[in-house]
Amino acid sequence: MKRLQKFIADSGYCSRREAELLIKQKQVRVNKKVAEIGISVNDDDKVTVRGAIIKPNKELIYIALNKPKGYVSTSSGEKSISSLVRVPERLFIVGRLDKSSHGLILLTNDGDFAYRLTHPSFAHEKEYIIELAKDINSEMVAEFKKGIDLGEKTKSFMKSIKKIGPKKYRVVLSEGRNHQIKRMFEFFGRTVLDLQRVRMGKYKMGNLKKGSWVFINKDSCY
Ligand code: URA
Repeated sequence: MKRLQKFIADSGYCSRREAELLIKQKQVRVNKKVAEIGISVNDDDKVTVRGAIIKPNKELIYIALNKPKGYVSTSSGEKSISSLVRVPERLFIVGRLDKSSHGLILLTNDGDFAYRLTHPSFAHEKEYIIELAKDINSEMVAEFKKGIDLGEKTKSFMKSIKKIGPKKYRVVLSEGRNHQIKRMFEFFGRTVLDLQRVRMGKYKMGNLKKGSWVFINKDSCY
């Protein structure tokens, strides 16, 4: 027996939290009856969400990919990262990277994992190595740590930023807004020439070759 929301999340349909919401919204049926929050089910029960059958006990897979530049973080289309990772599973892309960025992307059929690793409330770190066209100064570094107003509800900040070479920095974020790093540098008129993600949560990309991928363990991520 398993809690209904866990049964739905384990199938890869969505996260546990989203499943709870769907149950509350009366979108989930168990053996044709509208399900109440808090119930448990087993593999013989017929669970549907908005009419779609939820299959139990899917094998959960976790993949680390080194995305090359020029590929988009979508599951279909020309030069999408799915053309690099050919598995017969529908996968969630955990934490997108811009087309011109490269480095670590995680893929999984575990909706709960995808949610936990990317939702701001869990504040999992992401680490990047970036190269600038023109260097910044120590005042700008201080502003990045304090927070920059990018026109979002709250300020955007870097958890840490360290110089590691000429015009080269190691940046750690604990949030993940669209084009966040490029927009933060643009705030001070700086162009990011190269952006590579090297870590998500605890997982370090190491020397995985560009364009290649490996199965990884969930426990190595958070
Ligand atoms: N920040 C960016 O600006 N781009 C990325 O791809 C990731 C983080």
